[in-house]
Amino acid sequence: MRGADPSSPNPSPVLPKSLTSQGELVRTLKTEKAVKADIDAAVKLLLKLKADYKQVTGQDYKAGCPPLESTVLEDTGPAAAVDGEDMVDPWNVSTTSAKGVDYDKLIVRFGSSKVDQELVDRIERVSGKKPHRFLRRGIFFSHRDMHQVLDAYEKNKSFYLYTGRGPSSEAMHVGHLIPFIFTKWLQDTFDIPLVIQLTDDEKYLWKDLSLEDCHRYAVENAKDIIACGFDVNKTFIFSDLDYMGASPDFYRNVVKIQKHVTFNQVKGIFGFGDSDCIGKIAFPAIQAAPSFSNSFPQIFKGRKDIQCLIPCAIDQDPYFRMTRDVAPRIGYPKPALLHSTFFPALQGAQTKMSASDANSSIFLTDTPKQIKNKVNKHAFSGGKDTIEEHRKYGGNPDVDVSFMYLTFFLEDDEQLDKIRQDYASGALLTGELKKRLIDTLQPMITAHQERRKQVTEEMVLKFMTPRPLDFNF
Ligand code: TYM
Repeated sequence: MRGADPSSPNPSPVLPKSLTSQGELVRTLKTEKAVKADIDAAVKLLLKLKADYKQVTGQDYKAGCPPLESTVLEDTGPAAAVDGEDMVDPWNVSTTSAKGVDYDKLIVRFGSSKVDQELVDRIERVSGKKPHRFLRRGIFFSHRDMHQVLDAYEKNKSFYLYTGRGPSSEAMHVGHLIPFIFTKWLQDTFDIPLVIQLTDDEKYLWKDLSLEDCHRYAVENAKDIIACGFDVNKTFIFSDLDYMGASPDFYRNVVKIQKHVTFNQVKGIFGFGDSDCIGKIAFPAIQAAPSFSNSFPQIFKGRKDIQCLIPCAIDQDPYFRMTRDVAPRIGYPKPALLHSTFFPALQGAQTKMSASDANSSIFLTDTPKQIKNKVNKHAFSGGKDTIEEHRKYGGNPDVDVSFMYLTFFLEDDEQLDKIRQDYASGALLTGELKKRLIDTLQPMITAHQERRKQVTEEMVLKFMTPRPLDFNF
């Protein structure tokens, strides 16, 4: 479920807030002379919302005028589905399509920009490094203001990375690794500071867990994150429960943000309802605060103008749309974003991998045997029912979960392409494709477990201690 209370009664006839806020977004983008592609995307969505409005009410939308009859449009806010098909927000990801969420539509709906070949080439030019496979294969598919980050970087202006994890259990799944693997590549490539927020407070507010458990999970998850290979001299990992109390500067930013977001706005963005606890309503400001460099005076020496870049999956975007809306009003630069697609559940791309369903996920704690069994038993196949049919008609890699997983983890582009062709032609059988995946995942997870074993309590403490990093600001 989303944060909204489904049992809350509908309000009296209201204008759909998503339409109003989209109109406001278009006006803001135009006044701020945003890039044309962003304005065009926002206008396109506005037109679509107007068309939807007309379809439901039978009337043209007029700003400020409620519909004549008591027609109530469900206001799901911009985070949720407009077309009744794909649902994407920080708590839910689902679609009816076996190929997964329609990410091109999502770009239009969320008003972000596509990571196109031109941007990938530019990242290669500016960094002098071969783009990560997640960029080459469209896994990080959407962005906000990435060109601005690169413009500044070319003029020797540094930036920093911010990402995070909501520690809801001890075990993380492979999907959670995606942003961290990519963040590590960005840190190595651009040689910049990184802050990682562990929202143990968020999980306490949303789940039936004790504060102690949430904090313990934060520390346990930090070990998995550290095992991704981050450099302790360039990385600060923090638990909200610890850092909120320890850093006056961080908390000052939280209240500034809270002062500039109304209850109506968070309701519109996150779908909060009357019976959601007030902690949830105030929480988005806490996820927003690390986007501003003066939340970390020990790293940035009080500077508030260091640009932030946030790599995450697209489900977290609602938080950062809110953050970007607030930033200029409190005198800070807007954070830039790079969004990834979702690593799908074993059962198919209709939903993302979820920690609450053991059979939907490969966990970082799984043994080689468990990995083999899960893939063989649960990975949705795009193959045909019999070997004869498969050889004759070929399989469908676009809906095949094993193939999808290989696009995330098999490094070699040529090998991946050959697997796609062979599977589509019928030369490669489902069992053989699954074996390729098992052979890729088993050593990857075992190596992760080995690295995690090397992470000591002292190392965790060091990563999680507020301190200067190896950068001069
Ligand atoms: P959480 O713990 O749900 O997810 C952690 C990170 O993993 C991404 N993610 C996925 N990526 C690909 N495929 C999946 N199946 C998948 N599932 C999750 C999420 O987008 C996220 O990047 N509230 C946040 C914690 C947070 C945060 C942040 C995340 C705080 N500050 C800044 C990103 C950036 C949360 O609960 O994430």
